[in-house]
Amino acid sequence: MADKPEKIINPNISLFSVAPMMDWTDRHCRYFHRALTRHARLYTEMVTAEAVLHGNRERLLGFDPVEHPLALQLGGSDPAKLADAAEIGAIWGYDEINLNVGCPSDRVQGGNFGACLMADPCLVARCIEAMRRAVAVPVTVKCRIGIDDQDTEADFQRFIDTVAGAGCTTFIVHARKAWLAGLSPKENREVPPLDYDRVHRLKDARPDLQIIINGGIATIAQARAHLGHVDGVMLGRAAYQTPWLLADVDRAIAGDDTAPSLCRSAVLETMATYADAHIEAGGRLNNIARHVLGLFHGEPGGRLFRRYISEHATGPRAGDPTAPPSGDVLREAARLVAETQAAMQQRRDLAGVD
Ligand SMILES: Cc1cc2nc3c(=O)[nH]c(=O)nc-3n(C[C@H](O)[C@H](O)[C@H](O)COP(=O)(O)O)c2cc1C
Repeated sequence: MADKPEKIINPNISLFSVAPMMDWTDRHCRYFHRALTRHARLYTEMVTAEAVLHGNRERLLGFDPVEHPLALQLGGSDPAKLADAAEIGAIWGYDEINLNVGCPSDRVQGGNFGACLMADPCLVARCIEAMRRAVAVPVTVKCRIGIDDQDTEADFQRFIDTVAGAGCTTFIVHARKAWLAGLSPKENREVPPLDYDRVHRLKDARPDLQIIINGGIATIAQARAHLGHVDGVMLGRAAYQTPWLLADVDRAIAGDDTAPSLCRSAVLETMATYADAHIEAGGRLNNIARHVLGLFHGEPGGRLFRRYISEHATGPRAGDPTAPPSGDVLREAARLVAETQAAMQQRRDLAGVD
């Protein structure tokens, strides 16, 4: 029997990444996530090729250099337009260009891109070919394990083989199929069952490809377990809703023993300073504050933290109705949590409980 080919480690992919999420992973969110982890690869929200070509590029593509490693996710199905958009992304400094072949929304299907492209692997291959010719950075694909009635393992493998034939070596696979008719995008992230084994088997069948698994992974322990089968893990909702888990990525996933140990209040101070600069430049606190609401999720004072920020991040500044709310809202929220936790500790001490 022939030896199994060596697993090829591509330095351009990350063991851990935060998923592209529309309306969530904007530049402010990514700045926050980067304050929690140096090694996780971050992804933009999906930006259509048309928008890159004709829209406000600073607004759509602008990012802070600390966000690296950073991937731009594109939506589209016209090889020439995708190639031009990819080239612009590479010029802006993105480390990877990713093609969305997983989004099931009606709007995206109307534009003939996203998950419906899984039905046309040859078109995806042409897109990848054109994008690869246009840029030197890796061009990757994010897809599902199937769509509608094209959901057998053979369909999936044909898709992967065809697109890999165009030179794509990294696939991020959301381990559930998408139902394009009848389910909303939200339902399509919850209803079709997860099939991790199919993604693991893909890695076994194609050890030459970098396979990153996505979908329903909620903890660092689960992420580590997948890394025994595939090259990387991508977390979406868990990373956004319970962002503190990102603070373990550098040591527990990337194996970086030099990673500083973080505390939530220091991260929040980083975000308060960032928010002050954003407001100074004409932005609004809530553009940033909405992303940090989960920082104390599950911790004593976590609900108070969320409520305080939600109530104070919009509207006039307390004590000065003529000024917009500033990063001080985040500082005050952190102070309230610390006060709550200290009071709880005091009660425990008085009761003689550890
Ligand atoms: C609010 C939201 C927006 C999303 N937007 C995108 C997107 O722009 N592009 C994309 O490929 N996937 C998008 N997704 C899907 C995620 O990238 C991910 O594949 C999915 O949530 C499953 O991973 P999870 O279970 O870790 O969240 C989005 C998911 C959410 C929750």
